[in-house]
Amino acid sequence: MSPLHVTRTLPEDATDAALRADVLRGLTATPKTLPPKWFYDARGSELFEKITELPEYYPTRAEREILATRAGEIAAAARARTLVELGSGSSEKTRYLIDAFPDLHTYVPVDVSESALTQAGKSLIEERPGLAVHALIADFTARLALPDTPGPRLLAFLGGTIGNLLPAERAGFLASVRGLLSPGDGLLLGTDLVKDERVLVRAYDDAAGVTAEFNKNVLAVVNRGLGADFDPDAFDHVASWDAENEWIEMRLRSLTQQTVKIPALGLAVDFAAGEELRTEVSAKFRREGVRTELSAAGLELTHWWTDGEGRFALSLSVAR
Ligand code: AVJ
Repeated sequence: MSPLHVTRTLPEDATDAALRADVLRGLTATPKTLPPKWFYDARGSELFEKITELPEYYPTRAEREILATRAGEIAAAARARTLVELGSGSSEKTRYLIDAFPDLHTYVPVDVSESALTQAGKSLIEERPGLAVHALIADFTARLALPDTPGPRLLAFLGGTIGNLLPAERAGFLASVRGLLSPGDGLLLGTDLVKDERVLVRAYDDAAGVTAEFNKNVLAVVNRGLGADFDPDAFDHVASWDAENEWIEMRLRSLTQQTVKIPALGLAVDFAAGEELRTEVSAKFRREGVRTELSAAGLELTHWWTDGEGRFALSLSVAR
């Protein structure tokens, strides 16, 4: 059996410093914001898993349908010997790809969660003896260095997470992804698509209130990390469609005038009654927009697969 390599490029204390910086910047800005990456502590990750099982939240099922039905086509088009997956988590959907690539030599899952990486890595190695797994503990929005493994490479970024980046951040992200690739290497990108506003809003404001709890969990993360005294019950969950930017926004609306203390930052943050804190942007895409953004980064769109209802797309692009 080939060994499981694990490389940490994320210092153990990086999380702390980054949380401080993000909270200080976001909560002293107008309007107030917090980056969505802070949703995902253990509780937040559990809540996100529950979201993916909700009747209203279609993206995970739609993407899985594409992977389940098109993995063979994806493998034939990409011919990769190294598969890199950004934000791999449990690598659950990736199984479809790994199983479809006959010549796969190395799988490189990249995630901030060491436990998710080692668990997924171990079971993969058992199922697929001969496959080298080189896990990277890293923040994919930071500069990455990939291990020296055989090409061609396919870099997969699934789930529609690219939608959490603002347009300028997306451009920077795609350019850095292109920088990791050699000409002929590929990018497999999951993007949620523009659709009926009611379907979109329901996906982010479910009847059972799981997304509301997920949204408010970011306040618990700030409380634990920075000693803050946010009362999650003092905020309402808001999800709305921004038709101009074609993105869903999640916000937390302060129910009252209140002041929140954040001792680790020596900061007191005032909220007016009704004031909103933006916690997430989830952009929805169209084929031509994806093509244009990829092209600007030196990636040429070659394939576009959607689920049967045309809700979600996987695109394959090739580095020029
Ligand atoms: C994991 C970023 C793809 O934007 O749909 C789910 C996160 N937020 N419900 C998304 C999320 C609210 C999700 N991504």
